[in-house]
Amino acid sequence: MENTTNLAGDPGILAAPQTEPDRQFYFMDLCRDLVSARAMELGRPLTASVQTFGCQMNARDSEKLLGILEQIGFVPREDEEADLVLYNTCTVRDNANQRVYGRLGYVHSLKKKNPEMLIALCGCMMQEETVIEKIQKSYRFVDIIFGTHNIYKLAELLYRRLTGSSMVVDVQKEATAVVETLPVDRKYPYKSGVNIMYGCDNFCSYCIVPYVRGREHSRRPEEIIEEIKRLVDDGVIEVMLLGQNVNSYGRKLEEPISFAELLRRVEAIDGLRRIRFMTSHPKDLSDELIAVMRDSKKICRHLHLPLQSGSSRLLKLMNRHYDKEQYLALVEKIRREIPDISLTTDIIVGFPGETEEDFEDTLDVVRRVRYDSAFTFLYSKRTGTPAAAMENQIPKEVAQARFDRLLALVSQISREMSARDTGRVMEALVEGIDTQHEGLVTGRLGNNIMVHFPGTGKLIGKIVPVRLLESKGFYYMGRMEEE
Ligand code: SAH
Ligand code: SF4
Ligand code: F3S
Repeated sequence: MENTTNLAGDPGILAAPQTEPDRQFYFMDLCRDLVSARAMELGRPLTASVQTFGCQMNARDSEKLLGILEQIGFVPREDEEADLVLYNTCTVRDNANQRVYGRLGYVHSLKKKNPEMLIALCGCMMQEETVIEKIQKSYRFVDIIFGTHNIYKLAELLYRRLTGSSMVVDVQKEATAVVETLPVDRKYPYKSGVNIMYGCDNFCSYCIVPYVRGREHSRRPEEIIEEIKRLVDDGVIEVMLLGQNVNSYGRKLEEPISFAELLRRVEAIDGLRRIRFMTSHPKDLSDELIAVMRDSKKICRHLHLPLQSGSSRLLKLMNRHYDKEQYLALVEKIRREIPDISLTTDIIVGFPGETEEDFEDTLDVVRRVRYDSAFTFLYSKRTGTPAAAMENQIPKEVAQARFDRLLALVSQISREMSARDTGRVMEALVEGIDTQHEGLVTGRLGNNIMVHFPGTGKLIGKIVPVRLLESKGFYYMGRMEEE
């Protein structure tokens, strides 16, 4: 899909450099002039709001998008009463899509009051042709649409919109360029996500991500290490390495490298204190990775290991490449090597053809593994995926009843598991002031559980020892210990 405005003759576009990132810096300059002229007219700065749906990849993309907007001269704003609102969308389940349509209705009412307001949409949902058609037909007030493969082009698209008259649509089917050196506005000064790979090649039969994020592609290790070193120089002490399946990292690189080896190199970076990663596909989790985690001083004792279903029959239909026994054996091996590991998971209920027996298998795995926490999802039919065409789609009421049973079990176990460190002293990274209780701050333990304890804002971004005095179900109340 290409732009609907004809601006081929625009002198600004004709003079643009052809290579990246120069081209985008050029458009940022042009946009900055237009934005500051408008701000002069209005006698106030222009504001921009980036709203994120979906996973950590999208959250990281939003930091990049906001970085570009700030470079252009927009002042960030949390709510949507802004001069530019950008929705970075998710389409993994239908309710994510519905929420975006709901928000669009709301910003339309704001735009009626402020007709110069710009509304932009990007992210996974925009990679679906039916969505674009629907927006072009029923949401004509949207100004800019782009996808997951060209977020770096925001300044160029904005320039085209500001100098043209109609909706700008630029969605690419596959990545043609990855531009990593543009400005980024990080949400937290002390921690950051770092993309180590893009896309997904696994094609789990229910999942739309491979279609909207494209083929799996790893960044070179040198590039990743450089980025993390820059972040550390800038005050970051914790990184979260991001990929849809980090365990297959690096296999397709010209000089192949394993994820475990990448972790070793990240560990060696001075000044970096904590390493996390997401997500681990069970089929590719190696003994080498378990050993690196076991021996590491920096990798957090937490593994997110999506189960999806406990039924071997369904796992096969889901194209997950492991069965119930293999999953349980893997968990046992991990626990043997790293006894204090915290395990979390994702589970789908109501996959086509799921029987009571299949569902019992899921409950069985949950009881045996005893997850620290689990994200549970009702199966959502995604057009174009193999599962959408399967017979025996499960009636909503049946799926919902199973979902409720699963949630009750997961919560009960999670409550028990998260109390297990009561009395111990553990390190917490202080993330902020506790907004609910005066005089307290909130810290995150290595296993991802939060602890609230007396302290001041001066502690934010520091790692401190905290005694876990009392478990409150999903978090602790604690007290800082002398270092
Ligand atoms: N790459 C990650 C997951 C990304 S999507 C992995 O493989 O684990 C996050 C979670 O959304 C998935 O783990 C799955 O549990 C859930 N999910 C994906 N597609 C879904 C669908 N069609 N319906 C319900 N849940 C889904
Ligand atoms: Fe989706 Fe499977 Fe890829 Fe995860 S690994 S993003 S669930 S296709
Ligand atoms: Fe959603 Fe896209 Fe992430 S579909 S879960 S935002 S990769």
